[in-house]
Parts: sequence; structure tokens; C-alpha cells
Amino acid sequence: MSSPASSSDREKVVSKLPGWLRQNLKVRAAQHGIEIQAAVEAGIDAWIALASTPATVDTAGADSFSTFLPEGQWEKFRSVTADRRVSLIQGLAQSVQLWLDTTPAPDIERPAVTRRIIVCNQKGGVGKTAIAAGVGEALAEDPGVLRPVRVAKALSTALRASDQADDTGAENDYFDVESLPGLGLRVLLVDFDPQCHLTNQLGATPLPMHGDSLTNHMAGDPKGELRDLIVPVDDDAFGGRLHLLPACHDAFLLDVRLSAVRAREAALERALMPLENDYDVIIVDCPPSLGLSMDAAAYYGRRRDGERPGQSGALIVVQAEDSSADAYDLLTNQIEDLRNDLALDIDYLGIVVNLYDGRRGYIATSSLQGWVDIKDPRVVGLISDLKEQKEAVRMKQPLLSYAPSSQQAVGMRALAREIS
Ligand SMILES: Nc1ncnc2c1ncn2[C@@H]1O[C@H](COP(=O)(O)OP(=O)(O)OP(=O)(O)O)[C@@H](O)[C@H]1O
Ligand SMILES: [Mg+2]
Repeated sequence: MSSPASSSDREKVVSKLPGWLRQNLKVRAAQHGIEIQAAVEAGIDAWIALASTPATVDTAGADSFSTFLPEGQWEKFRSVTADRRVSLIQGLAQSVQLWLDTTPAPDIERPAVTRRIIVCNQKGGVGKTAIAAGVGEALAEDPGVLRPVRVAKALSTALRASDQADDTGAENDYFDVESLPGLGLRVLLVDFDPQCHLTNQLGATPLPMHGDSLTNHMAGDPKGELRDLIVPVDDDAFGGRLHLLPACHDAFLLDVRLSAVRAREAALERALMPLENDYDVIIVDCPPSLGLSMDAAAYYGRRRDGERPGQSGALIVVQAEDSSADAYDLLTNQIEDLRNDLALDIDYLGIVVNLYDGRRGYIATSSLQGWVDIKDPRVVGLISDLKEQKEAVRMKQPLLSYAPSSQQAVGMRALAREIS
């Protein structure tokens, strides 16, 4: 069942494994960032070293499985299976199961301080809500499932690729796509926009007027616990980890309601802080305005004592077109003012260039280059203008469950990892 060496000093081994065991092996190896052949090698070594044969594994339906093992390991394994009077397939299945049993899934890495990601730009329709939702979904995906993630070799490669993208999506040829486990974080999406777009897009219902709402909590006039307003985004992909605080149209009155409140810029923080223990990441989808709400959101995203730089802060969504540049200057000026006036550390998590379409030619590519040239903050994501996003909105479904393998989903996962 073996053939001559073909992978450096390893020899190719062809045997059989049941599909479920192969899948568990693939996921667990990816969770540990090691190659499948290394896991099998370790499993066989441990199996050979056992004093007795472990429980029989159900190998019904086993089909072809090949891997590369160090030279001589398979021969040795073969003789131990003979001694133990088990078939090669049974011995291999036991070895893989043994490795799985002794190598549990790693713990999810949780931030010490709940991360606050403020998705902002006062320019309307650039994709703040789409990016807030996509990043939140990507952060919450199931760590026991592998999904395609775009890994560009370097941003410069990515940029050249997008210059050359065509409507067949051929830009994917310039990116590596890897299957990686979900990040498994507990995420709260905060719809901070009176338009209630995020709420509607995820199929939830805006909170009724005259009931309780985030605005009431910010205005110091709560009618209950803010926690009680939160709804889960139900989809197996997120395993109960992704939640939404829906908006209410009463947020149109936020500035008026806050007029009598002391330290108004801290109002969002005062409202959300009691929820932080329940979440690893809180993402705020800001309205397209530069009012008090933007100040409150930026204040909430400031770096706290003891927090690593770049964990919390502003994620700015722009488009590759000239009119975005003025809006960007206004926004960053406001954030600078807040930084200086209140002596805060407000980090930029980066710029996301959304709705990108390289076919628009020079206008698109040159303005993308303009964003890249800013360097600080750097461009952390490039999301193309493709139909899946609009379809997901129409279907009122999270993009990453509506089209989990789409180029946009693959890009959202890359973005979530880029800012982690
Ligand atoms: N990458 C994309 N590809 C295709 N359509 C997109 C993409 N990103 C966003 N859209 C669509 O563009 C429209 C505007 O997006 P979105 O609502 O996310 O923008 P926004 O900045 O939050 O807007 P507002 O300023 O009103 O809050 C929506 O219909 C959305 O589905
Ligand atoms: Mg929006």
C-alpha cells in the first residue's frame, strides 16, 4: 500500500479512512495550523507506543485516503497491526482517533478587554452596514468548520489583481484561498443608525417607538435592561455567538435627548459597558452623520488603559471614487479634534475600500491607489461590488450564511483576520 518517496524524505501511503474521520482530522489539523501528514504521523507513533489495542473504530464506508509519512514508519506500523491482529485500515483509524483524542481543539483566543469596532463614515451608502455585518459574521463563525478565506500574498499583489479583475471574477487567481476554521468569538452588532438598516438586513424588527431603546439608555432614561433588547442572529454558522442590538427610529432624536446629559460623548460607553462581559467584540454600525452620535461612537472606540493598540478603534469604509476623499478628511478631522480636546487615544483599525470594481478603469484604480498611499491608516480590506451582498440584503440573511463561499464572504473573513 505504499509507493516510492515523492515528498522530500517522506513516502506516499495510500490507505482508507471513513469520511467522518477524515473530516475531523482535516478540521483539527487546521485548528492547530499543522499539516494532516504531521497529525497522522504523530497518531501512528502514539498508537505503536500503546501497550494495548484501543477500542475498535467503525470504519464502515471507508474510502481512499493518502498521505506522506517518514520513510519506514508505514512498514513498522504494518508489522504492529499484524501483531495486534487488526487490519491496516482499522489500525490507521485507531491512530487518527487517538491523535484526535489527545489533541483537543485549541481554546478560542479571547481578547482581555472587549474589543470595540466603530464602523464609520458620514458619507451615505458606502457600505458601513454591509462591512459591520460581514466582519461580525466572520468573527463569530464556527471554529469547528473550515471556510474559504482569502489570503493575499501581499496587498500589492492584491491591488494588481484587482486592476486586472474581470467580470468572471478572475481576480481570485491572484489570491490564495485557504480553508481555515471560524474564529468563534462572541460578537454583538450594535445598530446605531436610526435608519435601522442593519436591523432590517438581518431580518430583525426595529424596536417600537415609546418602548425601551439604546437612545433611552444613552439619555439616562432606561425602561429596563438593555440586555433584554438583544436578539440572536440565528444561523448554525454562528452557533448562538452572534447577537444584534436592534435600532429604533427614536435615535433620530438622539442629539435632542442628549442635550441635557452630562459628558455626552461618554453616553454610548455608559450604555454599552454593562454588556461587555458577555462579548469578545462589539461592533457599532454608525449612521451617515458627523453629529454627536459620531463623537459618542469614537469615544467608545478609544484605546483603554491596558488595551493593546489596534484592538479597538475606527474602521473607515470608503469607495474607490474621488468624492470619498473629502468625506474622509472631514471624518478624520473630527476624530482628531476629539483626540486632542479630550486627550484620548483613538486608533484607526484601517480603511476598507468597498464596492470596488476594477472595470471602472482609471477612476477606480487611481483612487484605490490614493487610499493605499495614505499608509496610516492602511487599507485593510478590499471588497468588490458583487451581487451576493445585495441578494443577501434582499433575502434578509447574513451574507456569510447566504453565500458562504462567495468572493465577498471570502474577503470579509480576510478583513476580520486583518484587523485582529
Ligand atoms: N460590496 C458590495 N457589493 C454590492 N453591493 C454592496 C456592497 N456593499 C454594500 N452594498 C450595497 O450598497 C447599499 C449601501 O450599503 P450599506 O447600507 O451597507 O451602506 P452604508 O454606508 O451603511 O449606508 P448608510 O450611510 O445609509 O448607512 C446596500 O444596498 C448594500 O447592499
Ligand atoms: Mg448603514
